[in-house]
Amino acid sequence: MECTVRAKLSGARPRRVLGGLVVAVAALLSPEVHAQTVALTPPMGWNRWNHFAEKIDDATVRKQADAMVSSGMRDAGYVYINIDDTWEAGRNAQGEIQSNQKFPDMKALADYVHSKGLKLGIYSSPGAKTCAGYEGSYNHEEQDAATYAQWGIDYLKYDLCSFDEIMKKAASPEAAHKLMLEAYTKMHNAILKAGRPMVFSLCQYGADHVWEWGASVGGNLWRTTDDISDRYDRMSVIGFQQAGLAKFAGPGHWNDPDMLEVGNGKMKPDEYRTHMALWALLAAPLLAGNDLTTMSPETIAILTNREVIAIDQDKLGKQGDRAWEEGSQEIWVRELEGGAKAVGIFNRFDWPQDIEINVAQFGVPGGMKARDVWAGKDLGIVSGKYRAHVPGHGVVLLKLTH
Ligand code: GAL
Repeated sequence: MECTVRAKLSGARPRRVLGGLVVAVAALLSPEVHAQTVALTPPMGWNRWNHFAEKIDDATVRKQADAMVSSGMRDAGYVYINIDDTWEAGRNAQGEIQSNQKFPDMKALADYVHSKGLKLGIYSSPGAKTCAGYEGSYNHEEQDAATYAQWGIDYLKYDLCSFDEIMKKAASPEAAHKLMLEAYTKMHNAILKAGRPMVFSLCQYGADHVWEWGASVGGNLWRTTDDISDRYDRMSVIGFQQAGLAKFAGPGHWNDPDMLEVGNGKMKPDEYRTHMALWALLAAPLLAGNDLTTMSPETIAILTNREVIAIDQDKLGKQGDRAWEEGSQEIWVRELEGGAKAVGIFNRFDWPQDIEINVAQFGVPGGMKARDVWAGKDLGIVSGKYRAHVPGHGVVLLKLTH
């Protein structure tokens, strides 16, 4: 489906031949149909914000794309290279958005990223200014989407930022909410009209229960929280507070608890394994947020663990949820294809604990084959009780199959 729609909607040739017809078909796609064409599993890639913040340019992005390939991340499933904020200059006399001197030729950059088998993501705001104070898309939505399509952009993160000021002037909270929905819908329609499939990533920090309406405005993912940071306390608060949101996610529309911090250096390896395991159980987008050119073998091993990624990318697309908690101990379960289950046994204390789970509690009274995913070890059939030794701030991630 993705390929068919992509072939129909992208590229200069079919547009020239079919002219307005293709644009018309794109305009007819409902948010639901659009959601079926991209992000059928949670998007995987890299975003430069967590590590580089405002220090970014064309050369750095190219080096990250190179490293995504040479590190094996591309082959493990990472695809998007996302520039995020601060690439924008002003507009030309025709009102077209221009990239600033850090990005002299966005189309050439997209061509380079595509030549590596990767895709390029960009960033804007429905407001007049982005969060870092650069040019936003307010009143230029169609023009910007058309420019992105022409450059070859594959992903747009659309960050509320200064649109907040417009919302503040609304007559009531309900009217402000409506304005926000309209602003996201407007850009979604502009993307459809531009005729190039792009993942549409909503960023408004989880306000107004975005999970309840994110898909209806065309969102393929929506941030459920404010920004993450490279600290266990922040990462774990965000991750564990995702409980209860599972029913809002599915193929083409995902809850986004923010980008990964794995490899940024301020958490211990066990904490990064918790981060990665929790995000996989949550069917969260896996957008690495570290410098891919300087990764330790341990960081690469965490980010490219095929079995953890397979849990995240499971085709059933069912987000996991908390099954049990007591004090510092939590059990999270995710249903996978073919009746398999992923079980995360989490220890939120800073010292090791033995945590016992009752396998029958997860609907498998007859016992299931268990594999310790991070250890890469088969554990044989488990039934009844299973006792895991879980490191401080760590996780034992099990995959149970019949
Ligand atoms: C924030 C957003 C961050 C980053 C930043 C750029 O609002 O949550 O992820 O995109 O803006 O200015």
